[in-house]
Amino acid sequence: MSIFSATTVPARLKNNVLARESLWLTWSPAFRRLIGNLRQAGALRRRVSMTRVPSCKPYDKTYTISFGKLAPELRQEIQQFLPALKTQPCGKKAVFFRRMLSPTLSSDEIRALFALLRVAFIEQDGDPAASLYSPVSPEKNDPGFNLHADLYLPTKLWLIFDDVPDDGSGASLFLTRKQLLRSMQTVPGVPKKAHQEVAQLLDLPLAKDSYNKMYDLIYDWRKPWCKRLQASMTRGMQSVCLFRGEGYLIDDRNWLHGRSPVSEAVTERRFHRLTFDMDRDYSAR
Ligand SMILES: [Fe+2]
Repeated sequence: MSIFSATTVPARLKNNVLARESLWLTWSPAFRRLIGNLRQAGALRRRVSMTRVPSCKPYDKTYTISFGKLAPELRQEIQQFLPALKTQPCGKKAVFFRRMLSPTLSSDEIRALFALLRVAFIEQDGDPAASLYSPVSPEKNDPGFNLHADLYLPTKLWLIFDDVPDDGSGASLFLTRKQLLRSMQTVPGVPKKAHQEVAQLLDLPLAKDSYNKMYDLIYDWRKPWCKRLQASMTRGMQSVCLFRGEGYLIDDRNWLHGRSPVSEAVTERRFHRLTFDMDRDYSAR
């Protein structure tokens, strides 16, 4: 059952190469019907709580929700959309979204919906680490976020932006794995070992959350090569400014992501982030 339908690139991004060359999606009519059914059943007003998944330490926090008394037909209906979400191609090309929130969904409703999708994923996989709806780290004065890979155990990273200014600040930054590894190979002074370790983190299944490990390998500020590497990465990156109701889905092992500074405080509603899919085919590289 298809969860998304193809749509067009927003007019304001027609001159943005990455945006123009990427696939743009929105909720499919079938999924909109499910949203309507969930709303009618009161499922989008259910309490969303925070929990921890110890095997995902140190980034082990996730929003969650109880399937509780949700009618078995609705649970089944949610499950029916998971294969389409898991198999949505997003490896070589990033996928972008628009019209994902109002009037279809409010902020509170997408919170419940993402939490329901997370619970459906973990029920299907039998592993609470199979999907995380991890919270945003709020910032009073945002310095931006350097390019990085999240390296949660699941490999797909899906973000829908919610509380964001529409002044062009806080653009999403992207750099491909290929460009990162090429920079690490060609920038003078970057240790071969660092290059190899980063390649391994991106190319092999992870036994634990590895965000800090990779970040420290790339941003070793004490070393003179670090600034040169950052300059090379900045030259290769692409940026897309996304507004409320827009977002992206990437293979976190194939794309680094980051953000330019936001003009306002970053709130816990800046975006909704769902990670899923632990069975990526690592041999396909
Ligand atoms: Fe991230």
